[in-house]
Parts: sequence; C-alpha cells; structure tokens
Amino acid sequence: MGNCSLLLLLGAMLMGVSIGFSEGQLAYDYYGLTCPNLENIVRQEMLSIFLNDATAPAAFLRLMFHDCQVQGCDASILLDSDDFSITSEMVSSRNFGIRDREMIGRIKSILEMECPGQVSCADIIALAAKESVSLSRGPQIQVPLGRKDSTTCSYQQANAHLPSPRISVDGLLNMFINKGMTLAESVAILGAHTLGVGHCINIVDRLYDPEPDEGMDQSFEAQLRLSCPTQIPVENLTMVPNDITPLTFDNQYYRDVLMGRGLFGIDSSISRDPRTAPIVSQFALDQNYFFQVFSAAFVKLSSTNVLTKGKGEVRRQCNQVN
Ligand code: HEM
Ligand SMILES: *[C@@H]1O[C@H](CO)[C@@H](O)[C@H](O)[C@H]1NC(C)=O
Repeated sequence: MGNCSLLLLLGAMLMGVSIGFSEGQLAYDYYGLTCPNLENIVRQEMLSIFLNDATAPAAFLRLMFHDCQVQGCDASILLDSDDFSITSEMVSSRNFGIRDREMIGRIKSILEMECPGQVSCADIIALAAKESVSLSRGPQIQVPLGRKDSTTCSYQQANAHLPSPRISVDGLLNMFINKGMTLAESVAILGAHTLGVGHCINIVDRLYDPEPDEGMDQSFEAQLRLSCPTQIPVENLTMVPNDITPLTFDNQYYRDVLMGRGLFGIDSSISRDPRTAPIVSQFALDQNYFFQVFSAAFVKLSSTNVLTKGKGEVRRQCNQVN
C-alpha cells in the first residue's frame, strides 16, 4: 500500500469517528447489492467525457458544491423549470457558469439500463465530482452513498446561499464550519479553485473598484484588465483560468494566492486573514497535506443535509421529479 492510500485510510478512520451528522446516514457499500458495478460505470463514463473535454472536471466539481449548498446534496440543481410548480435553480445568477448538468442525466440513463430505479442523481453528482478530482491528478476520494433526490428546488435559496465571489473570510468560515468542517478543511475545500475558470463578471469588481485590491500582484492585475477591459462586461464569454494550471488538481492555487494572483476576491482574502494565511502557506508547501485535508472536506461537503431514511426519491430522470 502506497503512502498516499495509507493516509487516506487513516483519514477515513478518523472521519468515521469524528462525524456524527449527515454522513453517518450514508454508507460506503450502499449499492453493494443493488448496483455493484456503479463506481466502475461512472468512472468509465467520466473518462470518456474527460477525453472529449479536459475542462469538464471543473464543471462537475463546482456542480457538486452548488448542489450541496442549496437544500443539501439532493440534485435540486438538476431540475428544469416546468409549467406548474418548479422554477429551476439555474435562474439564479449565482449559478452563472454552471455547465454540463445534462451529462449527469446521460450517466443516469446508462445506470438505468444496468440497475433500474436504484441510483440517485444526487449520488451520481457526488461520484462524478470525485472522479473529476482523480482524473485531474488529484487524490482518490472514497465517498459514502445513499443520498435521495429532492422533489423540490429553490432558486430563492440559490440566491441566498450560493456565495458571492467577494464573500468575507468570516462568511466563508461560517459557511463551511456549519457543515462540520475544521478551519483547515474550510481553506482546503476552496482549493477546488485549482481547477477551471471564472468569467469577467465575477472579477471586474476587483479591477475597477475605486478602492483597489491591496494584495493583488500588479502584473496579474494588468493581465486581467486586458482580458476584462470594461467595468461592465459587454458579453459573458471571456474566461480566465482559476490558477496557472487550471486542468490539473494540484496545490498551485495556493502558490498563486500567496503571490497575489488569486482570481476572485475570496481567493485573495484567505492569503491575508491571520486565521487562514498560515494554512494557505502550509498547503502551498505540502501538496500531500492539501490532498489529505481536501479529501476529508470533500466528504463533509458532499454529505451536507442529505435526504435518507425514506425522505426524497430516486428520480427516473435527473431533470424532473417522478
Ligand atoms: C466561498 C466559496 C466560493 C466562492 C465565493 C466561489 C466562487 C466561484 C466563482 C465566482 C466562480 C466562477 C464562475 C464563473 O465565472 O464562471 C467559481 C468557479 C469554480 N468554483 Fe467556486 N466558489 C467557492 C467555493 C467553491 C467550492 C467549495 C468548490 C468545490 C468544492 C468550488 C469549485 C469551483 C470550480 C471547480 C470552479 C470552476 C468552474 C468551471 O470551470 O466551470 N468553488 N467559484
Ligand atoms: C452576464 O451574466 C450576468 C449573470 O447571469 C447577467 O446578469 C448579465 O446580464 C449578463 N450580461 C450579458 C451582456 O449578457
């Protein structure tokens, strides 16, 4: 057994004793009898999506966060608006940039052939996110399963609970500590910004604010102004990488942040706040440590307010209730 898997095993044992809430209702072998091949199937599908589009892992990782942040990890983000009672969470501007939702539905339809009516869309979101991390050369994370899908969604809750890129460090810590995370885990989960992109609409406030952003590297700021030349973007198409290796799950994000090259306001704030700055430095120096803490944080995030014990349903199609 390699060092890394030993650490993960230790991590899993520690987590097993330290978490008393939602995660306890989930199980690592939940589909052992009903869909034993589940993880292999998801892995295979994710691999083919990834070979087609190396930026897809970022989309799935953010999708899990935006699912779990609103009503809990219940696939509420996948519901489309209908003519009756459902208005999709995608109408919230905080979901701007969310992509590849329909890919979860495609994986679901493959699983419906293999094990009909068994696997929830919420579990597929969690599995797709964990495969995204390992396909991008991040850690291999074990996630407990057994989430049910919601029969409702809420764009109002999306507006209220999905964070603004300028959230304060207090706001960030409250958000994640309420999910049972430690301080270090709250800093680690933001390391998801090692993958993917942001659009100018989420950056311009830092560039054209009358009170300039203190710690921002000047040449980085100049680069961003070139990419995002106007205070109000004229279109929503320009994307800027979250760190300088946006396709690789590594600790580069923390090194960028330390150099004043964090993309969003909050990325920059965690390098200055006295509570979070020492952790940023540790992660920047020690990738294995980052991977270990990120993995624990991932399990907590993906276990937020899950529907179990007869609550919720297993949707037949991910974009509509049964
Ligand atoms: C305080 C917390 C957070 C804030 C304020 C925040 C904010 C943002 C913003 C503004 C974007 C850019 C969206 C766009 O312009 O297209 C973004 C992208 C992203 N976020 Fe976060 N985020 C937070 C936490 C997280 C967490 C916990 C995760 C995952 C575990 C995550 C994963 C991602 C990923 C992977 C992207 C890139 C998406 C893509 O390339 O399509 N973020 N985030
Ligand atoms: C860009 O997206 C934001 C957020 O969804 C929206 O408010 C804005 O109107 C869009 N701008 C353009 C030019 O489409």
